[in-house]
Amino acid sequence: MTEKTLIKIEDILNGRKNGESIQVRGWIYRTRSSGNIVFTVLRDATGTVQATVKKGNLPDPEFKDAEKALLESSVEVKGTVKEDKRAPGGYEMQVTGFHVVHFAEPFPITKDQSPELLMDLRHLWIRSQRLSSILKIRSTVVGAIHQFFRSQGFLEFDAPVLQPNQCEGGSTLFEVKYYENKTFLSQSWQLYAEAAVFGLEKIYNMGPTFRAERSKTSRHLSEFWMAEMEAAWMELPDIVKIAKDEIRFILKEVLEHNVRDLVVLNCDKDKLRTIAESEFPTITYTKALEILKEKEHMDVEWGKDLRTVEEDNLMKHFTIPVVVTNYPLEIMAFYKPKDPKDPKTALCFDMLAPEGYGEIIGGSQRSLDIEDMKQRLLAMGEKVENYEWYFDLRRYGSVPHSGYGVGVERVVAWICGIDNIKDAIPFPRTILRFRP
Ligand code: 4AD
Ligand code: MG
Repeated sequence: MTEKTLIKIEDILNGRKNGESIQVRGWIYRTRSSGNIVFTVLRDATGTVQATVKKGNLPDPEFKDAEKALLESSVEVKGTVKEDKRAPGGYEMQVTGFHVVHFAEPFPITKDQSPELLMDLRHLWIRSQRLSSILKIRSTVVGAIHQFFRSQGFLEFDAPVLQPNQCEGGSTLFEVKYYENKTFLSQSWQLYAEAAVFGLEKIYNMGPTFRAERSKTSRHLSEFWMAEMEAAWMELPDIVKIAKDEIRFILKEVLEHNVRDLVVLNCDKDKLRTIAESEFPTITYTKALEILKEKEHMDVEWGKDLRTVEEDNLMKHFTIPVVVTNYPLEIMAFYKPKDPKDPKTALCFDMLAPEGYGEIIGGSQRSLDIEDMKQRLLAMGEKVENYEWYFDLRRYGSVPHSGYGVGVERVVAWICGIDNIKDAIPFPRTILRFRP
């Protein structure tokens, strides 16, 4: 291959190469032959293009190889770009050279296969156009999160993945044998971040997070990526504002960089743009219950957490994300403080996405009251002495501080409009699956 004429398929689709003699490298996405002509569609990481191979336009052995090569064979193809209104994408390649790098065996994935088989063959399915588009959007989301925080002076800070304590309740901990001891996979970066804000003040991170979720739902993974932030001197309204700005920024970045992927996934770009330009409302938990009662005739007892069914019914009344604050203190994690203005509730928030995607963010101000936290940990059956290091953070120059965590896959699933969170991560781990 001469590097000079080697291009990416998107360069063809952009119309910049019309009439030129070029080469592409990729895989056979579709192929069918009829007499002296082979119609192939090639794909690379940037798109797909139709390539027409006519006997006589290329050396005979290469034509034979083109006839013989099965789906997913890897190829290097030479040809001339020609505008063709009938071709998907508006351009096609008229092939003058067809080199098969590797003749693929019959590909085990054909049309309309069951989701379970696609999961068993995830290592092959991951190259599909659908998953590629989702993963490209995921890459934009991840990049946007880094860009968002760094541009505002947040430092990236890493916490251990092996942790001796719970953060979000003992029932979803994954236990790991640790020499003669036991430890747990991280449920959250938060407790360590709280230590670090006394030196760094504004920090963020994105990392693998583990929860032994016992239920099979379309929203829960056992291993997911959480993007968290923590900041000294900030209170609940400060971080709610940052969370709203962050989600809008992520949407704008996806709209700027992933138009083609949104088309592949059949997403409504205009809807996403409207959301990116909207002010997201903030309501309290109590107000959410009122909406459920008035508009959905649902009686939720004050004090009960909002389950999926309640979140979904509430969100029927919104087309943009909504922040819900002041959940009942009783059902909240031990570090979420009482709201002095409404002591039955906590200074905390969730952000809920529209269209049934549920909670995409959870966060709170952090309690500074060691005694209260001890009582709440004891009530959960925790050994308070394991948290002495954490209480120390309230003993030496304690300051108000707050933070939140974004579920990266929840955000990706919502933006891409996919119905199961499993497709928002390359190799999902759930209660029933940890292979391949
Ligand atoms: O609401 P959560 O449990 O909050 C925390 O872990 C806090 N310690 C974060 C913080 O304040 N730094 O989790 C945060 C978000 C949820 O809103 C949800 O989007 C996502 O993480 N999440 C999950 N995503 C996929 N699968 C799961 N099992 C998830 N559990 C939580
Ligand atoms: Mg939560």
